[in-house]
Amino acid sequence: MSSIWELAKQMTLAYWNGQFLPLETVQVSPLDRGYLFGDGVYEVLIAYNGQAFEAEAHFERLERSMNALQLTGGPDSALLREITRRLLASCFDETKSDAMTLYIQVTRGAETARRHDFPKTAAPCVLAFATPLKRITAERYAKGFSTVSAPDRRWLMGDVKSISLAGAILAHHQADQAGALECILLRDGLVTECSSSNVFIVKDGVIITSVADNRILNGISRRVVLRLAHENGWPAIERDFTEEELRQADEIWVTSTSKEVAPAVTLDGKAVGEGAPGPVWRKMRAAFDLLIDQTAKRNS
Ligand code: PDD
Repeated sequence: MSSIWELAKQMTLAYWNGQFLPLETVQVSPLDRGYLFGDGVYEVLIAYNGQAFEAEAHFERLERSMNALQLTGGPDSALLREITRRLLASCFDETKSDAMTLYIQVTRGAETARRHDFPKTAAPCVLAFATPLKRITAERYAKGFSTVSAPDRRWLMGDVKSISLAGAILAHHQADQAGALECILLRDGLVTECSSSNVFIVKDGVIITSVADNRILNGISRRVVLRLAHENGWPAIERDFTEEELRQADEIWVTSTSKEVAPAVTLDGKAVGEGAPGPVWRKMRAAFDLLIDQTAKRNS
């Protein structure tokens, strides 16, 4: 009996260095710098009803990440659009799932030996594939999630979506062991972000999220939340906030492509605010859902 992952791999079409082929047939060199050094960048997009959400923002961020790592010769936005279109179409037809995620990765490629120097001849390796995603249900969101906190021990190029994720993986594992959705990271007494999400607090009706500098990834969902707040006239500011403010917040939200806007109802075992998703989250969630609906109805 094949495992579900085996079956999924057989079904999944991948893009690999100029070709579309089954994911299971992709062969990566052991000398690929992504494999040896974590020398590469990535993006994760979501699609609703086959339609990619905020795709251009993801493509721009990928380009920004490649530039930050001086990774040249990677895919341009026209190729990224084509890859996205073809992979989402193939996955959508097969699964009819309510959502899909698209993973895109670019590494600095493989040379003939392991050397720290930038390769002289290797071309970047580009991998992409789409997989069905079971979205978090409205009922689950309405219950709220638990979160934990930990020191932020990651590197100081957090604005680059690098595949070197050991620091994030350790933080995620801490959340996982506690049965929590996310691990909120603290550095120098300030809140940065989470292992794979951004973080917002609400205090006295004001939505607050950390400044998007080198310490954090400027999440696409984070930007959407800020845009929706602005469009609806809800007070929202980007400023650093302290661990103390986090623990005294009326509401805490965690945002990412797959988690969308998720309310935290506990932090390190203690209730957040009233211990239930708050009224500002409910407003934001409704606005976010509207945007998802508009995306899903595009072209139909
Ligand atoms: N993670 N911060 C970090 C460190 C992240 O890894 C992510 C995304 C985010 C949220 O970004 P966005 O809203 O663009 O998804 C913030 C992706 C989803 C992942 O690694 O799977």
